[in-house]
Amino acid sequence: MVLNILLNIDSDTPSDIILFLGRIHPLVVHLPIGFLLLAGLAEISTKWTKFEPIKAFVQYIWGLGVIGAFFAVLFGYFLSLSGDYNEDTIFWHKWSGVAVLLFSLACYYISKKQIKIPFYGKSILVTIVVVAIFYTGHLGGNLTHGSTYLLEYAPNPVRQLAGLSKKAIPRKKVTVLDSADVYLDLVSPIMNNRCVSCHNEDKKKGDLNLTSFSYLMKGGENGEAIIPGDPNSSDLFRRITLPTTHDDFMPTEGKRPLTDDEVAFIGWWINNNAPSRGYFTALKPDKEMIDNVSRQLGLDKNNFLREMVQSPKKEIIDSLSNQGFILNLLMKDNYFLEANFSLSEKKLTMHSVESLLQIKDQLIWLNMSNSNVTDGNLEKIGRLENLIKLNLSGNKISDNGLVHLEKLKNLESLNLFNTEVSIGLLAVIPKLTHLRTLYLSESNATNEIVSELQKGSEKLKISFD
Ligand code: HEC
Repeated sequence: MVLNILLNIDSDTPSDIILFLGRIHPLVVHLPIGFLLLAGLAEISTKWTKFEPIKAFVQYIWGLGVIGAFFAVLFGYFLSLSGDYNEDTIFWHKWSGVAVLLFSLACYYISKKQIKIPFYGKSILVTIVVVAIFYTGHLGGNLTHGSTYLLEYAPNPVRQLAGLSKKAIPRKKVTVLDSADVYLDLVSPIMNNRCVSCHNEDKKKGDLNLTSFSYLMKGGENGEAIIPGDPNSSDLFRRITLPTTHDDFMPTEGKRPLTDDEVAFIGWWINNNAPSRGYFTALKPDKEMIDNVSRQLGLDKNNFLREMVQSPKKEIIDSLSNQGFILNLLMKDNYFLEANFSLSEKKLTMHSVESLLQIKDQLIWLNMSNSNVTDGNLEKIGRLENLIKLNLSGNKISDNGLVHLEKLKNLESLNLFNTEVSIGLLAVIPKLTHLRTLYLSESNATNEIVSELQKGSEKLKISFD
């Protein structure tokens, strides 16, 4: 064909101009769809006297539709040459697209020549065009979004009509460790969050599908991804433990890597023969793995808040008040406390910081804003392990003091506004696994430090400008 020679289509990789035009296809297709549906509608409406005047224009609408359909088909053909699509679907999409073009050409001709066809011939033709448009469009949608896209959220009866399985019932959030299923609650969420965007039914990179246990075990183009009992021979484990810059590292394209906890857990699971189901605790995990999984499931979080704490002795409360702390009870039926020194007229001493340790169990919020806190004081504050909120803004504290805060595992909010902390944040903040809010404006942190911290945790909100 002349066209083939002109555009050099026969070579294995189509030229850039072909691929460029091909990618315009999804844009161009909407024009003929609009024109042809409008032409069909106009055909019907001219049956009413009120709309008779448009009769003279109908042929031009068909004409525009035909021109649009021609380019849609041509560019669609170019796009199909890229070879990125499911062949079966492409076949039907292509030929029903061609049918739209041919039948609409026929409609144009009949409309132009005012030909009368017996037995509702014209209405049948118009109907064919409309049906073919919807069918072609539907297959086109499947090609770009995958065949499950349209009905993903449809009601179950509709899905069953289309021969799809019922929607999976989402797993209930695990609230006690003993109820956690090793695959469904642990392995599967990791794969879903980090891997299935590239390894699913429609997009099977490396011919590997990670959407179910059986697919996972089937492996990919290089064979098995997991060798039960042997993490070190498992390609999947090898890839998630490589240096992130390695070509084989997963996930690729700079997507967020698995956390250390997740990697260690996957290794442990493979080592325990990679079971498809069963309770996590039934596999006799050691303390380290229990802590790991509790962290992943968020079960370690503020567990202590469920327990009753004793009211601190009156002498202790009085002595703290005398030193300038304002204490508030935070709950009606328990004795968790807030301590605030920020409004105090008194001078902060090492002794007063140390006295806070007497209410260590009860103290969950601490406000030491603008209180002349020093790096030395932070050693004591770092021992207040139940702290959930800590405000240190407006103090001359630096990385040297910051290191002492790494033991505050329950901390959810940390205010370091207007302090001298900087690069030391990188060593401490990632250890505060429950931290959700971090204030760093007017500190010595830089944009690079902040973006590095942000990379480490998607849940952390950093306020910095
Ligand atoms: C951004 C896309 C992307 C993401 C996300 C991704 N992968 Fe991949 N994966 C690929 C590509 C592309 C290949 C094929 C090239 C290669 O073998 O390196 C591949 C190949 C693999 C293979 C080898 C399959 C075989 O037999 O050749 C394994 C195993 C794998 N990925 C595991 C994972 C795991 C586990 C995750 C999640 C932590 C993941 N991938 C996330 C793109 C991705």
